[in-house]
Amino acid sequence: MVSNTTFSYAILSWFRDNGRALPWRDTTDPYPIWLSEVILQQTRIAQGREYWERFMRQFPTVDALAAASEDEVLRLWQGLGYYSRARNLHAAARQIVALGQFPSTLEGIRQLKGVGDYTAAAIASMAFGLPHAAVDGNVYRILARIFAISTPIDSTQGKHEFQQLADALCPTDEAGYWNQAMMDFGALQCKPKGPGCGSCPFADMCEAHRLGQTASFPVKE
Ligand code: ADE
Repeated sequence: MVSNTTFSYAILSWFRDNGRALPWRDTTDPYPIWLSEVILQQTRIAQGREYWERFMRQFPTVDALAAASEDEVLRLWQGLGYYSRARNLHAAARQIVALGQFPSTLEGIRQLKGVGDYTAAAIASMAFGLPHAAVDGNVYRILARIFAISTPIDSTQGKHEFQQLADALCPTDEAGYWNQAMMDFGALQCKPKGPGCGSCPFADMCEAHRLGQTASFPVKE
């Protein structure tokens, strides 16, 4: 069984060698990071990246986004679907301008329209270095496999247990990198179907792999 510290730092090391170069990763400015997170809530990176670039060109700052009309924002969003995201994005830009600055605490960020627990933790860690784990399907799958956790991920108990474990594993001084490492490791290596265990640096510390049961994790109710 792998120790928590070993896993936390090994995943950061994997990320340094294998992480994807994405434009919103070159900054700690919360505006481009927030924009990328809202776009990526329901959109794949290949498509989302183009829209992110388009938005950053047309609305380079949160003030520019807030000053636009909702119609302009919806027009630029056209093709991405889930249009409530665009409406919320615009409303949140106006919330931020009214506040005078981008909120810099988890609770403050969570108050923005269209921002849930995952997105708030992602922004808090990447933009402000706050120690919050952003727990999504990737994180459930990776942790369920490495530690062979059979608590259903869609149960109240499971959500609580995985959030606690992720918060414990997430290094307080590198939370932003750790969150992005988990996103990339889930997308590139520990995939839902056909995980690349043959080339996985954690294969020998992964309980599910040891049991020959990667396909059985995560467990759902
Ligand atoms: N999915 C959601 N947020 C992401 C990010 N910052 N990088 C890659 N994939 C993501």
